Amino acid sequence: MSRGGRAKMEEACQELVLTPGQIQDVYSSLLAQINLGLGRATNAHATVKCFPTYVKELPNGHEQGRFLALDLGGTNFRVLLIQLADGDFKMESRIFAVPQNIMAGPGVGLFDHIAECLSAFAHAQHIEKEVLPLGFTFSFPCSQHGLTEARLVQWTKGFSCSGVEGEDVVRLLEEAIQRRGDVQIKVCAVLNDTTGTLMSCAWKKHDTYVGLIIGTGTNACYVERLENVELWDGSWEEPRQVLINTEWGAFGNKGELGFILTDYDREIDQHSINPGRQLFEKMISGMYMGELVRLVLQRLTKRGLLFGGLGSDTLAEKGTFFTKYVTEVESDTPGDYTNCRMVLEELGLEHATDEDCENVRYVCEIVSRRAAFLVGTGLAVLLNKMERPNVTVGVDGSVYRFHPHVHNLMCEQISKLIKPGIKFELMLSEDGSGRGAALVAAVASRTAS
Ligand code: GLC
Repeated sequence: MSRGGRAKMEEACQELVLTPGQIQDVYSSLLAQINLGLGRATNAHATVKCFPTYVKELPNGHEQGRFLALDLGGTNFRVLLIQLADGDFKMESRIFAVPQNIMAGPGVGLFDHIAECLSAFAHAQHIEKEVLPLGFTFSFPCSQHGLTEARLVQWTKGFSCSGVEGEDVVRLLEEAIQRRGDVQIKVCAVLNDTTGTLMSCAWKKHDTYVGLIIGTGTNACYVERLENVELWDGSWEEPRQVLINTEWGAFGNKGELGFILTDYDREIDQHSINPGRQLFEKMISGMYMGELVRLVLQRLTKRGLLFGGLGSDTLAEKGTFFTKYVTEVESDTPGDYTNCRMVLEELGLEHATDEDCENVRYVCEIVSRRAAFLVGTGLAVLLNKMERPNVTVGVDGSVYRFHPHVHNLMCEQISKLIKPGIKFELMLSEDGSGRGAALVAAVASRTAS
């Protein structure tokens, strides 16, 4: 490719490259927000709410029993039947779509849909006559006052059902199931997907103290000492710790990220269903990453830096550059453009030259690197705050799972910021939301007995 061409691209994308100074400022500001979130008097003003989850104990690997789990919060809704038996587990599951009209309709419709899916699954498994303990993974910001009560604070990601914010989602679920009257459940725990991810990793690796999601949304939870949680109103019995659901996706909601936001980020935010909210999430997660790339490509095309200045109707349309395209483009071996050309064909850009392909890859890299560096910075904040010498971070979510470089880029960033003497490992959590729900339910029943 021509040298001048690359230099122009780099210049045009400069604002998407974070400087070490900017990273340091993100670090300090996020740490400050987490501390505000944990404080009783300051929580109301904090953007990172740090919700105590009421999960205090981690699994010991000996959990037993049969559990139902519901998993709502990503692209799909899932119902699972999980059998835990001393270090081993079996799982049956079924995926159900959540249609767009339900995601944005009345809350009663959403919970009726969930109850209907649960009933269909229970009948197919011939367990409709049993009262199985159930763990409900509900991956939205909730304020909890116990393991089985969670009030939705605000919808995030693509959901906007009316009549749910401010309500206890466990009660809404139970009511929907009673309306049907054809299955019985006992909700033992309601949890976030980050909590599930942490628990499912901790089951195998006992030094897991952080759970992270980079999927449709992004969020992290970690194990905090009770003495640092001024908000805590639960039991002070040992272990004196609790999992904190940070809800870091909302970082930036009061302008804290203004110094690194680009026009692309502002445009994403303005055209989203929740403008002004989840700013950090919008710079990172799968729901927005492809669209960020599209906005950059579109602008560079208009400036004549790509495709000879000639775009396509598809490229000009919102939502046409899927996040999985970013993964595909970056999965080509350098110098090979097979995936990239397939993606560009989908977008009606058959006229792309090799140099264009190289530049499209560059744009994908710039956007995914920024996301990985921001998440890495967030993890460094948590690891340094906990000050545990060895920590495994359980990670789940499509962006982490499928993107070829995000893992390494995150590790690179964490290593730059971590205090000496702290060692960490990022571990893919196999099906955290489902298995984690069963584990929280199991640990809860162990603690209760
Ligand atoms: C959003 C939700 C959060 C969840 C995350 C990942 O940020 O608010 O609860 O953990 O997405 O799914």
